[in-house]
Amino acid sequence: MPQQIKAFVFDAYGTLYDVQSVEQVVEGAYPGYGSVITAIWRIKQLEYTWLTSLMGRYEDFWNLTKRALEYTLRSLHLDANPQRVENLAAAYFSLQPYDDARDCLERLATQKRAILSNGSPAMLYSLVKNSSFERFFDRILSVDSRRVFKPAKDAYALIEQELGVTPEQVVFVSSNGFDICGAKNYGFTVVRVARSINRVGTAFPLKIDERALFDLLRAQAETLDQSADVTVRSLAEIPDLFGGPGRGA
Ligand code: 2OP
Repeated sequence: MPQQIKAFVFDAYGTLYDVQSVEQVVEGAYPGYGSVITAIWRIKQLEYTWLTSLMGRYEDFWNLTKRALEYTLRSLHLDANPQRVENLAAAYFSLQPYDDARDCLERLATQKRAILSNGSPAMLYSLVKNSSFERFFDRILSVDSRRVFKPAKDAYALIEQELGVTPEQVVFVSSNGFDICGAKNYGFTVVRVARSINRVGTAFPLKIDERALFDLLRAQAETLDQSADVTVRSLAEIPDLFGGPGRGA
């Protein structure tokens, strides 16, 4: 482990936890619409964090998750009854962790490990509890205490404040383009997890479905001069990259 690295901080949604895993429950509630609702919902959810931040009108991520779902259902002319929205949005409390998350977190056990997420504290604690990941984290940090969302600098500043480390001592891991830019801009060493469904070097199909469109918008590297230091295809590559212990160590 390079001497200066003192903490590994993970983004939650899309990095440790699969936002696509709501599709099945969405499909059950609105048959035939599972894939399109899942994609627009997530796109809108993030857009609303940026919109409210720019307007200086903070609302927590749970509220914005519900508002984004309501938007999605209304634009598709589907029933957006508040109770149905609330019930379906609750799927964000128990997203599936990605298969590579457990192994990576286990192998980094000698390091300080944390989550820094836009999620509200209640959403994050449920996610971690429902996946039995509690023992993997020293801290679960929600931007809620700063009332601003990533990629605002103030949101990343929580890491220094709460973990007592400098930016040079942090490896920040994310699959989200906006988050990678923000973390790099803040001064962390950034690992990008490429979660694209398309194989490297393979052209996307000409007929783009919702999942592919989501992928093109959200799973690619941004072109804003704030690139990740390293890109991996799986979280499982991270411990080796930073000289961590071997599997099962
Ligand atoms: C996060 O977990 C929203 O993916 C983003 O902060």
